[in-house]
Amino acid sequence: MNDIQDAYDRWSDSYDDAPNPTRDLAHTVLRGLLPARRLDGLDVAELGPGTGAITEWLSAHAARVVAMDDSARMLARARERIKAPHVSFVKHDITAPWPVDSHAFDLVTGALVLEHVQDLKPVFAQARRALRPAGMLLVCEFHPFRQQAGKQACFVDPKTQRLRRIPAFHHDLSELVRAGLEAGFTLRQLDEWRDDGAEKTESPRLVSAVFQAR
Ligand SMILES: C[S@@+](CC[C@H](N)C(=O)[O-])C[C@H]1O[C@@H](n2cnc3c(N)ncnc32)[C@H](O)[C@@H]1O
Repeated sequence: MNDIQDAYDRWSDSYDDAPNPTRDLAHTVLRGLLPARRLDGLDVAELGPGTGAITEWLSAHAARVVAMDDSARMLARARERIKAPHVSFVKHDITAPWPVDSHAFDLVTGALVLEHVQDLKPVFAQARRALRPAGMLLVCEFHPFRQQAGKQACFVDPKTQRLRRIPAFHHDLSELVRAGLEAGFTLRQLDEWRDDGAEKTESPRLVSAVFQAR
């Protein structure tokens, strides 16, 4: 087990309850960018569902959701939350070839997972393979300016009662865009997100990108 899996396993019991403005904003952003009516009947792959909050919302509209996460305990929480025949949770490292058919999905989406991936290329390549022609890839991620300011996913480890920082990798905005373009996507939309009332001089908390398969 690597350090990231171990950390998320240990965070799983408190992930939903502890105050977390990054998580909350990411969920709001995804819901806003994916209006329910546009999800109706879609086949969706989700990356890093964690405890399944976004999965639950996707599953209310989509025809099928396959959610892949590398933490067994996060997935256990997600499975407790959603028991629906059209939703499957798969323990899988998204940097390895995905256990799904090619051209099987209309939408690939995920939040707050790519910061834990060092090389974005395999993930974008798998998303492109998994998507049908003109399929959409929507990601919402921790903004690199925040990382440059020293921020990082962290939680109080219940075993040690100490703050534990989860290994994360820096991706410039241009790197995110380039990974999509080089994998065969067109960039449809790029947005940066701040907390309500935050000054423009503050770094955005999140970046989201909508890509479409060429
Ligand atoms: C910050 S949580 C986000 C969970 C959920 N998307 C949300 O917004 O609440 C990051 C999730 O990504 C998963 N993750 C990190 N690296 C991964 C990888 N290489 N493959 C699959 N899942 C990964 C973690 O196990 C964790 O559940």
